[in-house]
Amino acid sequence: MCGIVGYIGRKEKKEILIDVLQKLEYRGYDSEVIATIESKKLKNYKAIGKLANLREKTKSYQSDGFGISIGHTRWATHGKPTELNAHPHLGSYSYVVHNGIIENYQELKSSLQSDGVKFLSQTDTETIVHIFEREYDKSGNPFDAFSDTIEILEGAYATLLISEISPDTIFFAKHGSPLLIGFDKDEVYFASSDTPVIGKATEVYYLEDGEYGYTKDGKVHLFDANGEKSFNKQALTADKVSAQKDGYRFFMEKEIYEQSRVMSETMMGRVLDNTIALDELDDSFLDGITSIKICACGTSYHSALTSAYLFERISKIRCDIEIASEFRYKEPLLTPDTLFITISQSGETADTLEALKMAKRAGLKSLSICNVDNSSIVRESDSAILTRAGIEKGVASTKAFATQTMVLWILSLYIAQERKTISKDKLKSEITAMLHTPKSLIVTETLHSKLHRLSKRYLHGHGFFFIGRDIFFPLALEGALKLKEISYLHAEGYPAGEMKHGPIALADSELFTIALMPKTMHYEKIKSNVEELSARDTTILAISSLPFELADDFIQTKYDSHPMLEFFEMMVVTQLLALEISVRLGNDVDMPRNLAKSVTVE
Ligand code: F6R
Repeated sequence: MCGIVGYIGRKEKKEILIDVLQKLEYRGYDSEVIATIESKKLKNYKAIGKLANLREKTKSYQSDGFGISIGHTRWATHGKPTELNAHPHLGSYSYVVHNGIIENYQELKSSLQSDGVKFLSQTDTETIVHIFEREYDKSGNPFDAFSDTIEILEGAYATLLISEISPDTIFFAKHGSPLLIGFDKDEVYFASSDTPVIGKATEVYYLEDGEYGYTKDGKVHLFDANGEKSFNKQALTADKVSAQKDGYRFFMEKEIYEQSRVMSETMMGRVLDNTIALDELDDSFLDGITSIKICACGTSYHSALTSAYLFERISKIRCDIEIASEFRYKEPLLTPDTLFITISQSGETADTLEALKMAKRAGLKSLSICNVDNSSIVRESDSAILTRAGIEKGVASTKAFATQTMVLWILSLYIAQERKTISKDKLKSEITAMLHTPKSLIVTETLHSKLHRLSKRYLHGHGFFFIGRDIFFPLALEGALKLKEISYLHAEGYPAGEMKHGPIALADSELFTIALMPKTMHYEKIKSNVEELSARDTTILAISSLPFELADDFIQTKYDSHPMLEFFEMMVVTQLLALEISVRLGNDVDMPRNLAKSVTVE
């Protein structure tokens, strides 16, 4: 993860860097830094923790005239979040910032140390700057030194390097972590994603893996393994406006409330009166496909798990789901009759991206379901369906999950329609249910205040079990993940029928069970499972449209004409519950500890 920024030009650099870093803070917030070269001299400011601390530290600093500058927001991988481990890392006359992991850093570090180089930090990144200086001392040519450095590095990186020996130049390289170059007249920007440079740059170039180069005098020189190359810039669309809280206490809260609206956006032009239209897929898209494999991580993995029920039940197509980080190293058997789907909110998740590249190498057709256009995963896929959730700022994903699940439901119907595995009546009734989902996602004042009141009873105890069956099992996993991410309380999601095979041993009055009890799906079965827990005195919060007398607390849902409507309404309840518990515990809802919004390391 980590976010990097660079700027070369005449404008006030501190303001530019801090503004971009603020928009990149979702990528990590263990420490934040800026560094400049002005009048040929390096300067840097570092602060631990969130950006407010860096703002405070740089209060009296203002950059002056032409200069070059880089900045970094860190999600710690090697070494604790201390000032010494904060980027930029300094050699004798150069600074580097980096996002990714240098896998051969131990070996490089040992060789540098045996040459007498002293390391100040515990990071992998510091090796980059020392290798650069070692190579420069040999060749006397800064760009040759940078190219030689890049050649030695293994792993994933996006990196920017500045040096007093070339005080008007930023050196850059990308391999496996995102990096783009923004342009406006003779000014050049670098950033880990495009949204932060909107309003600053008018054109952009998204670097590909293996590309590197330098920028000087407003010009970018781009290279790859075949030498210098030309490149085409594209206009940077200004419609990705940055998100504001709009009166809500937290971005996560705003994003929960937005779900009803964005769901309509997700369906627009896709869910029609009697048919499903997916213009993103060409007519031959399903030719030769006999099964689906989906890879994703975290919350996106939970939407994938939900969809497996839909693909098999509605589309009558075999569907396997894998956690991307597991898939990568299991030597999977891949055959070209499998459609390979990746799901990602950010489109930058390293494990998911690598899984996609593996599938492509094996000749599979690929489709991504993503919230960010032009992201690495979208660009790498044969086709993409965008979720249209809008920018999601809260680290705990909410509206992205809702819209991913909707896209997958739409896709399952699309495949059923194209393959004729669904009757006209059934398709119509699914579409009718879909069109009701925005209603099931509306947060009422009554619901929110009830969960606010209830939350005070769920702050202690020895853990939470979220339980459900069928598609409500992945929802249980997602509910538990939301709660643990922002409350730091232990929570697990479990298939309700599985409790008796071990976990029920934990049952006592200090165990909280959040029971997802849909009327339309195996109600009697889950009721028995919850009764078994109640008999062992667990505290039960039941969520259902049907009254359940053994519940200690009860949230009554309204939309129970279709399982997916019950799914989405219950999803909102679990999100709000997590939010209110987190607020009561005094945690940072939008930027919970140890997490980052975009996970670009494996
Ligand atoms: C949890 C959460 C994460 C992400 C996971 C994958 O709230 O957001 O679990 O879902 O890191 O990220 P994307 O979807 O960007 O690939």
